[in-house]
Amino acid sequence: MTLSSAPRLAFATFRLSTTTPSKSRLVTKTFIAYRMASTSAANFGLKDASLIRNQGYIDGKWVDAQEGGVIKVTNPATEEDLGTVPEMGLAETKQAIDAASRAFKSWGKTTAKERHDILKKFYALMQENTEDLARIITLENGKPLVEAKGEHAYASSFIEWFAEEAVRTYGEVVPSQFPHIRNVVVKQPIVLVSILTPWNFPSAMITRKLGAALAAGCTTIIKPPPETPFSALALTELATRAGVPPGVINVVTTQANVADVGREMCENDAVRKVTFTGSTPVAKMLYGMAAKGMKKMSIEAGGNAPFIVFDDADIPAAVEGAIACKFRGSGQTCVCANRIYVQDSVYADFASRLAEKAAAFKVGNGLGPETTHGPLIHGKALEKVQRHVDDALARGAQLLMGGTRLPGKGTFFQPTLLSDVPPDALVNSEETFGPLAALTRFSTEEEVLRWANDSKVGLAGYFYSRDVGRVWRVAEALEVGMVGTNTGLISQAVIPFGGVKESGLGREGAHGIEEYMNIKFVAFGGL
Ligand code: SIN
Repeated sequence: MTLSSAPRLAFATFRLSTTTPSKSRLVTKTFIAYRMASTSAANFGLKDASLIRNQGYIDGKWVDAQEGGVIKVTNPATEEDLGTVPEMGLAETKQAIDAASRAFKSWGKTTAKERHDILKKFYALMQENTEDLARIITLENGKPLVEAKGEHAYASSFIEWFAEEAVRTYGEVVPSQFPHIRNVVVKQPIVLVSILTPWNFPSAMITRKLGAALAAGCTTIIKPPPETPFSALALTELATRAGVPPGVINVVTTQANVADVGREMCENDAVRKVTFTGSTPVAKMLYGMAAKGMKKMSIEAGGNAPFIVFDDADIPAAVEGAIACKFRGSGQTCVCANRIYVQDSVYADFASRLAEKAAAFKVGNGLGPETTHGPLIHGKALEKVQRHVDDALARGAQLLMGGTRLPGKGTFFQPTLLSDVPPDALVNSEETFGPLAALTRFSTEEEVLRWANDSKVGLAGYFYSRDVGRVWRVAEALEVGMVGTNTGLISQAVIPFGGVKESGLGREGAHGIEEYMNIKFVAFGGL
């Protein structure tokens, strides 16, 4: 994924310097902020309007930006304003880090049971507010309500999972090589964690990281994406109601000042860990910053998942899997199938069944009861999908359906199916992040594995086959962190989620809590 077209744009607008707004601009911005603040809650139509927070959160207080600026958040389905959040900067980031450092003094001493109980309460509150939280996701991200509820279930499952992980961060007793010494290993919180998240899962990418950090006993500063900040803020409100003390969670919202905020979140000495989900170019930039202070880093970056259909596959099942895997979130997940390779003898059957299923999609506003697929997040995302379509057609691919954006309001792209896409087309080398299913024909297992592994990234990979030998062989051979065999859906809180190559570092979910803890060895002598 290139920076200019990266769909998860959290950092794509990096600037090297910022300007101070003039007084008159400041007044206008502040006025807009107040006007918008009063309308944002109404725009969401929630049962509990107090879940809509349009301020940042530092040291247990909801706060505006010091310079008064705001970020406008719009609904990608209607292009209407949803409300604003503060345009915070370096000063607020430093305050948030100081607050988190102070809060660690007591939060770091809580027992695992205390943290478990607070996380369980947080989980229960998320469950009680399912309708509202899902609605916020749909309105700010665009995904259909049914899918937003799915994300909400996924998001809350991380909080439940990490509540249970908190009380199982066991140490070890290691047999000593010396008679007068006993060896003990303990695990301790890494202290202060910076969390940077993308817009494609406004809720689940926060809880996946926050749940682990809180369970481990860390304090946090969160930078949510400017496109979808309201989910992060609503979760913060619920965490606070659940009993998370002031300073343990801090939220800094930013867009224009993202370069300063991001740098501080990586380079400030008090920060000991950075966790990021987003594009590979931004991940590399943050990794470089964090490396200066030898910070621990977890990264879940871009993918380019191969989806392979062998001639011995259950074809209807492979079609179902491809539909779920390719079109989830309108193709805007980093584990979405990006390259669909189908073996010669089943190619025509697979293509026609896939086209039939995709023709039944109802694209529209995510709040519509019939809607199966929502908009893309913004215009840049549309441009990238169009570029991939045009490139493939120019190289001789056939258009089976779709191919352009939908006219009118909203950033909608037609579900698109291309056949006979050559292996060297752009769509086979770059993550599309949109509803484009590109079918490429292959003849042998050796050939398709060569193509599948010819990528700098390796997050997820999928294949369909009923030959048990092939299932083992291909699962072992794919150069990815996660494999789906005979399934197009792999995401769960309980799996070790993460990639190899330039798709990232570390694992989230299972083994995830260890990323937020230090291992300390203590030798007990003088026996
Ligand atoms: C992502 O797209 O970044 C995460 C996808 C998932 O957790 O399923």
